[in-house]
Amino acid sequence: MDKPKTALITGSTRGIGLAIAEHFAAQGFQIALNGSREVPQELIQEIKNNYQVPVIGVSGNIAEADDCKRIIAEVIETFGTLDILVNNAGITRDKLMLRMTTEDFQSVLDINLTGTFNMIRSALKPMIKQRAGRIINLSSVSGVSGNAGQSNYAASKAGVIGLTKSVAREVAKCGITCNAIAPGFIDTKMTQKLSEKVKEQLKQQIPLQSFGTPQDVAKTALYLAESPYVTGQVLCVDGGLVM
Ligand SMILES: NC(=O)c1ccc[n+]([C@@H]2O[C@H](COP(=O)([O-])OP(=O)(O)OC[C@H]3O[C@@H](n4cnc5c(N)ncnc54)[C@H](OP(=O)(O)O)[C@@H]3O)[C@@H](O)[C@H]2O)c1
Repeated sequence: MDKPKTALITGSTRGIGLAIAEHFAAQGFQIALNGSREVPQELIQEIKNNYQVPVIGVSGNIAEADDCKRIIAEVIETFGTLDILVNNAGITRDKLMLRMTTEDFQSVLDINLTGTFNMIRSALKPMIKQRAGRIINLSSVSGVSGNAGQSNYAASKAGVIGLTKSVAREVAKCGITCNAIAPGFIDTKMTQKLSEKVKEQLKQQIPLQSFGTPQDVAKTALYLAESPYVTGQVLCVDGGLVM
């Protein structure tokens, strides 16, 4: 890599986001970690030591527009550029429709969809100025094909797909690409909530017969970061679940 590039990954204190941060660090990217809570100093130090790249932690709640502005400003102030934004932070609050409260629905939309919107809006100014940038949004197979018990989550992730395609059309002329990754079932804290019985039933529906790893998603994120002629796409990383 000529000049080191900067990657900001929201929700990168664990799970898929952390795997993306480590995979990008291994390629020499400067890394900005984020979580709604304080990013642990030990985690920052561990990535610095393992990959010998600059790493900062910028905590902030992506559902808050002011936090997003501050996160982007801190990244630009530290590294001078923002080349890759991975909108990974997300939550679930699964319930069947008849039991789902307005709060259950709204809180998931606020983080997964409005949070992604907030981050993109704040990141676009510096990216347009650079006339380059990669935006990678985490959707889900639930947003592609729906999922019982996840109407809030599926609505938010389907929204992320519409947002991705619209932003891709809007900013292509500025040299910025915007794509989505739709993971299937990936082994993280989010899916560890499922019982072993449910996990076994799910595996039987997956053509490749296993859950994916956070690293499977991280490799796809790197592919999108390195692909100037791919935009507005939704890549399913799901073992063939929704082919
Ligand atoms: N795991 C799967 O099977 C799967 C499948 C499809 C899609 N996805 C998507 O992939 C993404 C990552 O999933 P995961 O399984 O790795 O999740 P995870 O293990 O629960 O990690 C979520 C991360 O997001 C952060 N976060 C949550 N709310 C936030 C907020 N308001 N502002 C900033 N950071 C916030 C968390 O940090 P704090 O605790 O500090 O807030 C954490 O770092 C999500 O968008 C998820 O919907 C996951």
